[in-house]
Amino acid sequence: MILDLKDLKTAEKQYYLQHVIAPRPVCFASTVDKEGNINLSPFSFFNLFSTNPPIVIFSPARRVRDNTIKHTLENVMEVPEVVINIVTYEMIHQVSLSSCEYPREVNEFTKAGFTEEPATLVKPPMVKESKVKMECKVIEIKPLGTEGGAGNLVICEVLRMHIDDSLLDDNMKLDQKKIHHIARLGGDWYCKVDESNLFHVTKPNTELGIGFDALPESIRNSKILTGNNLAQLANVHEMPFIDPSFEDDNLKQIIQYYSINPEEMEKELHSYAKKLLGEGKVKEAWQVLLFNS
Ligand SMILES: Cc1cc2nc3c(=O)[nH]c(=O)nc-3n(C[C@H](O)[C@H](O)[C@H](O)COP(=O)(O)O)c2cc1C
Repeated sequence: MILDLKDLKTAEKQYYLQHVIAPRPVCFASTVDKEGNINLSPFSFFNLFSTNPPIVIFSPARRVRDNTIKHTLENVMEVPEVVINIVTYEMIHQVSLSSCEYPREVNEFTKAGFTEEPATLVKPPMVKESKVKMECKVIEIKPLGTEGGAGNLVICEVLRMHIDDSLLDDNMKLDQKKIHHIARLGGDWYCKVDESNLFHVTKPNTELGIGFDALPESIRNSKILTGNNLAQLANVHEMPFIDPSFEDDNLKQIIQYYSINPEEMEKELHSYAKKLLGEGKVKEAWQVLLFNS
């Protein structure tokens, strides 16, 4: 299927883009109007765009239904300050409830059962239940259009972060496993970040990986190793050599059983290397593959 966005209705554009640009983190924005009335609403058109200066952007869109603007946008135009509260799994149903289109004077802290906690540098209150809160100054608001569905970039400078101590490890560093972020996908779909779906990807940013083109042909054209496997192998800084001290019982067995059938041996070696790569054992996988190349 090929889609030309100009031929789609706004709701269709929204449908495809929101399912595809996913998962998106959720900014839970607390704002006030010039009378001090409080608003609290979630926005998944949100991300980090700069660390120095520390800039995050979220986007309250013009309502598709009637092309009006959201209370959050009205508020930041009146009082250019916001507290961005990070949404975790423990809060998600309350956060969703707060997204109901309550009248402007209604405080969603009350409606969704959250507790106001005074911020230290800005007027909007923080959400006590959120484990990470960012006090921000709105430095620019950039409308992206005038029709229903048009986003409005609320460009925010983060002034101060409040991080719950329960998220820190012994070295006072954030423990990613403890944050339990949620993220929004298409429609009503969300995902939860927890230990079972977190993984590391080693990315050396000082040394260059040798690249796919430097892999021996038998490895590069493997019917068993995947793109991810080849990328792990191609991420080494220089072509590895056979290490005579490398000992591995499984490798010995493969050599013993399959030495009369080179084609089968290659398959077995590649399968074993794939298993090692799955366990993050890149050096060992290289030794297994070098035996045959
Ligand atoms: C998880 C979640 C993410 C949302 N993300 C956005 C968004 O990025 N932009 C937007 O305009 N509305 C978004 N909405 C809808 C707004 O939260 C909703 O329109 C809200 O009522 C706006 O409140 P306000 O008019 O009080 O500012 C989202 C809703 C939910 C539940």
